Amino acid sequence: MDYRVNPGGCLRGQISVPGDKSISHRVVMLGAIADGVTEAEGLLEGADVLATIAAFQSMGVHMEGPDRGHLRIEGVGLRGLRAPSDIIDCGNSGTAMRLLAGLLAGQEFSCTLTGDASLRRRPMGRVLAPLAQMGAAIEAEDGRAPLHIHGRPLQGIHYDLPVASAQVKSAILLAGLYATGDTCVREPAPTRDHSERMLQGFGQPVRVEGAQRCLRSAGHLRGQSLRVPGDISSAAFFLLGASIAPKSDLLLEGVGINPTRTGIVEILTRMGARIDLLRLREVGGEPVADLRVRYAQLRGIDIPTRLVPLAIDEFPAIFIAAAAAEGVTRIRGAEELRVKESDRIAVMAAGLRTLGIAVEELADGAIIHGGVLGGGEVASHGDHRIAMAFAMAGLVARESVRITDCTNVATSFPNFAELARTAGLDLEVQTS
Ligand code: S3P
Repeated sequence: MDYRVNPGGCLRGQISVPGDKSISHRVVMLGAIADGVTEAEGLLEGADVLATIAAFQSMGVHMEGPDRGHLRIEGVGLRGLRAPSDIIDCGNSGTAMRLLAGLLAGQEFSCTLTGDASLRRRPMGRVLAPLAQMGAAIEAEDGRAPLHIHGRPLQGIHYDLPVASAQVKSAILLAGLYATGDTCVREPAPTRDHSERMLQGFGQPVRVEGAQRCLRSAGHLRGQSLRVPGDISSAAFFLLGASIAPKSDLLLEGVGINPTRTGIVEILTRMGARIDLLRLREVGGEPVADLRVRYAQLRGIDIPTRLVPLAIDEFPAIFIAAAAAEGVTRIRGAEELRVKESDRIAVMAAGLRTLGIAVEELADGAIIHGGVLGGGEVASHGDHRIAMAFAMAGLVARESVRITDCTNVATSFPNFAELARTAGLDLEVQTS
């Protein structure tokens, strides 16, 4: 499935983006191993989260839904999962695979996790190494999926993360629920803390000791009812589109603004964007706001490296903002982008060059010279966020932009095309 975006237009009105992907995965996981019932509202019904739901159903967890964002989970308790009936397919989802590796390492059964071609190329050694120190027995060839997990008793560890990764931190903390003693993780830079917040909400204390997060298993989790906030990573494409398209004025309702996720707002604001956070409130243990974004002429900046982990999924959008800005934008310290759903540095640089923008690719980032975007055909490489970022580029391109291989947009934002059209993007979905 391809997108074709015709030039012109702007983004206006009021919209709600789907539920947060990271939080949706976590509520399914914790709900499944909690005691009692967990009810989630506003859950993302994207393919990634559906893969996590299917994984727990295959391990004997009964769930109703998801239906219009509602999911009811009958938790089986920490020790209630059964050996899955088949290989667990995590699809395109790194979060599903890495967090499940931690959660399943200490079970009393064996299982296998696999995924699509993109996921099978991504590094899993970063979770396998700390889990092995905890006593896990996980076989993988060359640190890549499929992962064959042989459940073993686990011991707590103190682990210094070599890369700032919320997925690795979360995998270790989830394994810690099944371990003896304390499990502590120290991160080199702050990363999203949804696991810590949600564990607390489910009655499992997580201690914050400087850059270290520690837990000692309470032996059980308590089922919860919670609402999932809108995903700032999905809102990011609309923050981008409305910032670059003249006459835009858009309100995004109910977006999660957890400070470990708002790097995109800070980066765009430093570039000159007009973004207001309105009606600040708390939803499901997470801060939420309505975001109003209006057109503004953006300027190139040097992106502070401390903001990289806080905007890690938003770089496809940031590359486009930089291309539409006046002047030069420098991205450094972002080598993690090379191991996302695609090599996002290489794929964004190639796509922008196709549209006539000068980009110097660096090992850990890029230097982007803002300019006038032309039209052309851009390959998304099956990466959902690359597809959505280039769709928004179409707002300011001189000619139409065709983006190929957009099916995976459904992993995180199933109604993207519809919502973008509602807001004013001239987007056609083409199936061949
Ligand atoms: C996620 C963490 C991030 C992010 C991913 C979701 C999570 O990955 O890129 O989309 O839910 O924990 P890393 O922690 O590997 O950077």
